[in-house]
Amino acid sequence: MRFFTVKPASCIKGVITLKGDKSIACRSVIISAIAPGETKIENFPSNKDCLYTVKVFQKLGIKITNDLNLNKESNAITVFGEGRYGLKKPTGPIFVGDSGTSLRLLLGVLAGQDFKVRLIAGKSLSQRPMRRVTLPLRLMGAHMYGRRATGDGRREEYPPVVIKGGHLKPIVYRMPVASAQVKSAILLAGLYAKGITRVIEPIRTRDHTERMLRLFKADIKVKHLPSSTEATQSKGGLRRVVRRSLDGGGQNKIVIKGNRELVSPKEVYIPGDISSGSFFIVLAAILPNSQIVIRNASINPSRMGIIRVLKRMGANIKINPSTKLRVDGERSRTIKNYEPMGDIMVKSSSLKGATVKKEEIPSLIDELPILMVAACNAKGKSIFEGVSELRVKETDRIKSMSENLKKMGADIEVVKINSREKIIIKGAKELRGTRVRSFGDHRTAMCMVVAGLKAKGRTLIDDIACIHKSFPDFLSILRTHIQ
Ligand code: S3P
Repeated sequence: MRFFTVKPASCIKGVITLKGDKSIACRSVIISAIAPGETKIENFPSNKDCLYTVKVFQKLGIKITNDLNLNKESNAITVFGEGRYGLKKPTGPIFVGDSGTSLRLLLGVLAGQDFKVRLIAGKSLSQRPMRRVTLPLRLMGAHMYGRRATGDGRREEYPPVVIKGGHLKPIVYRMPVASAQVKSAILLAGLYAKGITRVIEPIRTRDHTERMLRLFKADIKVKHLPSSTEATQSKGGLRRVVRRSLDGGGQNKIVIKGNRELVSPKEVYIPGDISSGSFFIVLAAILPNSQIVIRNASINPSRMGIIRVLKRMGANIKINPSTKLRVDGERSRTIKNYEPMGDIMVKSSSLKGATVKKEEIPSLIDELPILMVAACNAKGKSIFEGVSELRVKETDRIKSMSENLKKMGADIEVVKINSREKIIIKGAKELRGTRVRSFGDHRTAMCMVVAGLKAKGRTLIDDIACIHKSFPDFLSILRTHIQ
């Protein structure tokens, strides 16, 4: 096996522009496909997950012209939407790759279609739970079943999933897990239900679907609900609760009225991917003499958990919100403000440990692994509470990250009390390079690159091709900015 070698870097500097956010981009294709007329999507990323989302909708009869070229900067696509009932029955099963977002959201749209289709997934997605989505969609009236794992004893379902949609009825659904993918699948299915669908999320999760549906003129409303104990607090206390629910945490009730056509805004710009940016943000914070600016990045509060936690850890970060898009060699232009966007400035910092509460996890779920790297390089103890969802990502990220970081000399403990898990990291011991594994997971691989750049000696990573799932430009951007 050929290992990828990472040598220590002395600093990272410069201005970084990132391709569009994966979560927002997937939604832009799905929602444009079911809105009548053309939608041009700019800054569409050429990662595997988003390209599969495009392919899937092409198989469902949607014309999507593609200026995407992996070797070029041009990255706009145009989706020729056919309306809510315009998708065509495919000629055979559809392969959806390994994108959990595409598959789970697609189930929401297919729940409203009057044809049967079998959805097959790649190796890692085939091991990820689907019942969290199939259950509420069945309650709405769709017929679907996923594979049951032999000898597993649980009622869990996995891909492949066979679905036959039809007439949907609205539901009121209190989600047992805080998952934006589950919420989004139900909201998309809600577009097909006659009446009002209500979703209550236990902890606020990313709200890209709500924002994109609003941009496409859906009748959707969001209410922030304080919990009963919080509601009995003083007025000032209640204000704090509302503030907290906007920043991540707090409950939300989302109400969508179905049975009406969407209206395309014609053009959608996808802001830069904050999850991709997080690797450079942490790297700039932990390396000495570093200073970076990430331009045109998504700064949606429901995804900014990483920034809030790093600031608590003492990171030198400044955010400059802007609706103006700045691209080198072009005049700046104002874009439709459906998602907050801005520049993120980070300088070398002296980090200290912090505690991350369960309520904060959805706002940083994909950044938890890189925050673990930050915690290893921070003085004192960091605690990450309520982290179990990390076990069902592209790989078990509690295992992949703690195994690797321990090999590099980190002091990490995973504590399980009943079904709750927390990670405790005692930081500031210098990590040392060694052989580590990506476990075929893009985020674990990129975390190991970042950890290796700060560690003493060489770090060898077994397989980094998986990075293409979300961030094919990762290494080239890194090479241009590190010294
Ligand atoms: C995503 C939501 C998160 C996240 C995933 C993308 C989305 O999953 O981990 O990478 O685009 O909605 P869950 O909502 O299931 O936690």
